[in-house]
Amino acid sequence: MSILITGGAGFIGSHAVVELLDAGKEVVVVDNLMNSSKISLDRVRQITGKDFKFYKVDLLDREALENVFKENSIDSCIHFAGLKAVGESVNMPLEYYHNNVTGTLVLCDLLRKYGAKKLVFSSSATVYGVPEYVPIDEAHPLGVTTNPYGETKKMIERILTDISKADKEWSIVLLRYFNPIGAHKSGLIGENPKGIPNNLLPYVAKVAAGKLECLSVYGNDYDTVDGTGVRDYIHVVDLAKAHLKAVEYADKMTGVDFINLGTGNGYSVLQIVDAYEKASGLKVKYKVVDRRQGDVASCYADPKKALDVLDWKAENGIEQMCEDLNRWQTMNPDGFVE
Ligand code: NAD
Ligand code: UFG
Repeated sequence: MSILITGGAGFIGSHAVVELLDAGKEVVVVDNLMNSSKISLDRVRQITGKDFKFYKVDLLDREALENVFKENSIDSCIHFAGLKAVGESVNMPLEYYHNNVTGTLVLCDLLRKYGAKKLVFSSSATVYGVPEYVPIDEAHPLGVTTNPYGETKKMIERILTDISKADKEWSIVLLRYFNPIGAHKSGLIGENPKGIPNNLLPYVAKVAAGKLECLSVYGNDYDTVDGTGVRDYIHVVDLAKAHLKAVEYADKMTGVDFINLGTGNGYSVLQIVDAYEKASGLKVKYKVVDRRQGDVASCYADPKKALDVLDWKAENGIEQMCEDLNRWQTMNPDGFVE
């Protein structure tokens, strides 16, 4: 029996495949490579010394996806595949809703048809909207999302909840990630953003490496420790390990459950700059500019439920996250080069 990994060539998916293979699980990876490279999967094979099947398939191509089910014994799925750039989603709502929502519908229909009603889904803390309180626990109400990307996560959570209510055979675990950063300690896999990064850490890494001139810090007048935005950064390997726990949990439960994946610690932008400089020994040049529209002051998790339900907690601190990211950046200055 195999676990279907959609989006397994991507940043979080590739790290999860490493952890699953290391734990002796069989996986089948599906990815259309629209935001990733096949090289990441070669590197996963190099790290683990194990092989697995890969299909370059788009979730929207039902026929091609069904072929994957026909050729393999799939009994569960971890669903990473999706478009994720917040700004881009504002300009391309049709593409985002179609890819993320329709892709999930096609996938779920086939999981049902082939009796593989066990699903772990990559959701996001973005579903909480502007936090009413921090740390955010799972009882925090869902908020208003400010962009189509966030809305797709809320919609998919709703769709999966409805599916699990209508058919009691489903086991669905919705994982709400906070801010995944870092890279595998081998330096062989990591985040490979196309073009200029939108997220803080890839940008910081490129400034430190001299690939970008200067970091723009979006506002220093928030009600936080130093006025800059505070987030819950989580090491991607810790996050990946939680997926192993989540598929095992899906084996034991039915219905739907929602779980935050964060560390419970918030760091400001300037604290991150400082941590990265210390971990890398490099300088991160920055200037303070206006706030970015849609940003909130502070967002960090209450990670207690993950400990109770999954027996999982994040192990790596911010120093390790920065050190591992810097190793990845240094070893792969231009990402995966095809
Ligand atoms: P990523 O872009 O690196 O990985 C997503 C993968 O999905 C890519 O390899 C892409 O090629 C593939 N993909 C997209 N649409 C597809 C389709 N229709 N068919 C087949 N493959 C498709 O992103 P990531 O950072 O690894 O994120 C993985 C998941 O986690 C996404 O669903 C994302 O929204 C979610 N998430 C990410 C973050 C973050 O900050 N990285 C935070 C919260 C949630
Ligand atoms: N920031 C800067 N300069 C930059 C980039 C970011 O100052 O160049 C600041 C932001 O203002 C924010 C913090 O760094 O205070 C983190 O910003 P990111 O863009 O890295 O992350 P966000 O918290 O804004 O959003 C991320 C993902 C979303 C996801 C959300 C919650 O991009 O998809 O985490 O999980 F929904």
